[in-house]
Amino acid sequence: MVHSAPRSNSRIPFLLLFPPMLLLLFPGGLGQGPLPRVKYAAGDRHRSVSLFSKEGLQDFDELLLSEDGATLYVGARDSILAFNIGKPGIPGLQSMIPWEASPKKKRDCVFKKKSNETECFNFIRVLVAVNASQLYACGTYAFSPACTYIELKDFSLVPILEERILDGKGQSPFDPAHKHTAVLVDGMLYTGTMNNFLGNEPIVMRTLGTQPVLKTDTFLLWLQSDASFVASIPSTQVVYFFFGETAKEFDFFEKLTISRVARVCKNDVGGEKLLQKKWTTFLKAQLLCAQPGQLPFNVIRHAVLMPADPPASSRVYAVFTSQWQVGETRSSAVCEFSLSDIEKVFEGKYKEMNKESSRWSTYSGPVSNPRPGSCSVGPSSDKALTFVKEHFLMDEKVVGKPLLVKLDVEYTKLAVEMAKDVRGQGYLVMYLGTNIGSLHKAVVGKDSDTHLVEEIQLFQEPEPIRNLLLAPAQGALFVGYSGGLLRVPRANCSVYRSCIDCALARDPHCAWDPVERACRIFFNISTDLTSWKQDIDLGNPAWACANGPMGRSHHRPQSPPQLIKEVSAPLHSILELPCPQTSTLATYHWTHRATPIQTSSSAVYNGSLMLLLQAEVRGLYQCWATENGFTHPVVSYWIQSQEDPLPLDPELAGIPRERVETPLTVGGPTPLTTPRSYWSHFIIVTVLLALVLSGALIGLASSPFRAFQAQRKVQGCGTLPPGEKAPLSGEPPLQPPKDTRTLNGGGVDADNNQLGTEVA
Ligand SMILES: *[C@@H]1O[C@H](CO)[C@@H](O)[C@H](O)[C@H]1NC(C)=O
Ligand SMILES: *[C@@H]1O[C@H](CO)[C@@H](O)[C@H](O)[C@H]1NC(C)=O
Ligand SMILES: *[C@@H]1O[C@H](CO)[C@@H](O)[C@H](O)[C@H]1NC(C)=O
Ligand SMILES: *[C@@H]1O[C@H](CO)[C@@H](O)[C@H](O)[C@H]1NC(C)=O
Ligand SMILES: *[C@@H]1O[C@H](CO)[C@@H](O)[C@H](O)[C@H]1NC(C)=O
Repeated sequence: MVHSAPRSNSRIPFLLLFPPMLLLLFPGGLGQGPLPRVKYAAGDRHRSVSLFSKEGLQDFDELLLSEDGATLYVGARDSILAFNIGKPGIPGLQSMIPWEASPKKKRDCVFKKKSNETECFNFIRVLVAVNASQLYACGTYAFSPACTYIELKDFSLVPILEERILDGKGQSPFDPAHKHTAVLVDGMLYTGTMNNFLGNEPIVMRTLGTQPVLKTDTFLLWLQSDASFVASIPSTQVVYFFFGETAKEFDFFEKLTISRVARVCKNDVGGEKLLQKKWTTFLKAQLLCAQPGQLPFNVIRHAVLMPADPPASSRVYAVFTSQWQVGETRSSAVCEFSLSDIEKVFEGKYKEMNKESSRWSTYSGPVSNPRPGSCSVGPSSDKALTFVKEHFLMDEKVVGKPLLVKLDVEYTKLAVEMAKDVRGQGYLVMYLGTNIGSLHKAVVGKDSDTHLVEEIQLFQEPEPIRNLLLAPAQGALFVGYSGGLLRVPRANCSVYRSCIDCALARDPHCAWDPVERACRIFFNISTDLTSWKQDIDLGNPAWACANGPMGRSHHRPQSPPQLIKEVSAPLHSILELPCPQTSTLATYHWTHRATPIQTSSSAVYNGSLMLLLQAEVRGLYQCWATENGFTHPVVSYWIQSQEDPLPLDPELAGIPRERVETPLTVGGPTPLTTPRSYWSHFIIVTVLLALVLSGALIGLASSPFRAFQAQRKVQGCGTLPPGEKAPLSGEPPLQPPKDTRTLNGGGVDADNNQLGTEVA
């Protein structure tokens, strides 16, 4: 789309060229993208994460898993750590070695006007395993990149000797703020980083191993001076580099960032006469991640490979943000690219630059054989080498498939895995880290329909997630950030307390075990899973939780309660009946007997129902959730007065009952003791109290005038000052009284643990 725009010298404002993109500028013009079904605040004990942190240690930027998956190596500022992660809980520090920049380098760094507080340290930027007994690490080393080998003895790190410190230019950036990538393939290290102090000379380089050291050519401008590398992915014959840089091929932009994939051949040995010690197979192409007719997500932030067999069907998943910021936060997208699509573009036409006009256009002349830039070009094929010096940009772009578009979220990192559901069907699970420290677990369902299972805020103070690493054997994700290392279990299925909740969660890691009557993770268990209940594609509990055959339609009768909470209180007391709101995707409503609650006779405050207990308000109260077309009671109360107990409705006979004691009762006409500071809560209680008092007054002297006055008073109290949220709207989710899960919500109570019988 961007390509086909007419070439002109006039600098037309970008947005005017693409009117549909204006849509994106207006909130509400498009949806926000899928909402996380459950949100956990930092420190929520229903989704606990284990943190390793230690005084004096910071910037846990590089993560490396040992081959057996039981040890995690971490490159932090001025040190390298090894963790035993075989046991759940806080990662166990096994050994730690310091690796600081030398005092001289630190002095030089400060002398060059860099900060001794934030920059003149050794930030580890490369950490790879050479073999079972050796690691290779590089760091910024106070703006003077250095590398070293680190010996491993019995899984412990052996301290680094000064004489083993090597120059790391081209392997680690100088500036910790610069992006970088590194991958070790067949004993050779491929790096993409900044090659100079000023940070305007990017490089793709190969070092170590037996093959010649090769670099990109700086003078031929194969990379723009601001190229920013985010990932490197080896394939059978080539190594891919993912990066962003200023685009020069679109001359109507002042400064447009574009995402790229470049590739070099593993068998490249450089040229003999031409391109000595330079890549002879460096080619790059544009990566496009956009929804049709929308502003592209043009800035790549991270990319990972999902390997497959055959390797050509492997896919790359990448997160992008847009250069254009609307409001406070950027928008993000995740796109899927197939390796075969990428390879096809590198086998297609080249672009060339007209030297006079400095414009890029499609090259349509003859192409020598073997193709310039291909892996079969020899070091002496001067014709191909001459050609590729100028023709390193491919004409076509690699177009990705957007799997997730999310407004107002800035994703910075991702990790992916394939998860099998109980039937063995595979689903792509993406863990997405944001710039403010939240983690989204996204599941790509049928027809690339992506839903967000949960959002976990990992840190108390918002800050970016620096790195994510999935340790499949541990069933956990490891997160590096400025202050430490976190272990995040893949899922906590126990938060889903009923089969309905478990099915609606649509988490491929969680299924309802009808024998244990619990939502369980089925990672590494040898149980027969055939009776376990799950529905990732549709999240339809009516189908998933039914006993026996059941159509997959959403249409079904409403289910009766499974548990009744009995509340017995003195007449005229005020009751607060909580409704645990576990899902952000559900809508909640209350009923009294079978009829929806009239807001005039009651108030829903933050999800809870506020009641003034009087003769006619007794009976059955239920809070219902409707999600995904499915309605079910979340909680059911039987309300009666102590003075005059109400016999249970015969229709409800046989349903288990549980007495709920006074925490629900805000004590009658006596002064309020519950310390609630919320203004609107206060208003409701005041209204109800007024009702009590006026009721009493009317009782004493039933003067029509006084009744009128009391009513006036009630209405007056019900009117909030401008700017206050109306308490009756009940729009914000509720604060549950105790032992509940989610951001605000509570656990599903025992109510609906077995939908089975009702549905079948
Ligand atoms: C998982 O959820 C259950 C129920 O809410 C809670 O008791 C438990 O502590 C949670 N476990 C973790 C590891 O978060
Ligand atoms: C940085 O330098 C300043 C002044 O030279 C000094 O006061 C400060 O303690 C130094 N900070 C560190 C972390 O070395
Ligand atoms: C690891 O590689 C180093 C050389 O890079 C070699 O000296 C050492 O013997 C190797 N160790 C193993 C276990 O292969
Ligand atoms: C699965 O569990 C068994 C023992 O229950 C253990 O031996 C095995 O290593 C585990 N597999 C993984 C991948 O964790
Ligand atoms: C509703 O409950 C949530 C959950 O704790 C709380 O954060 C929020 O402040 C409450 N809303 C109001 C208006 O009190």
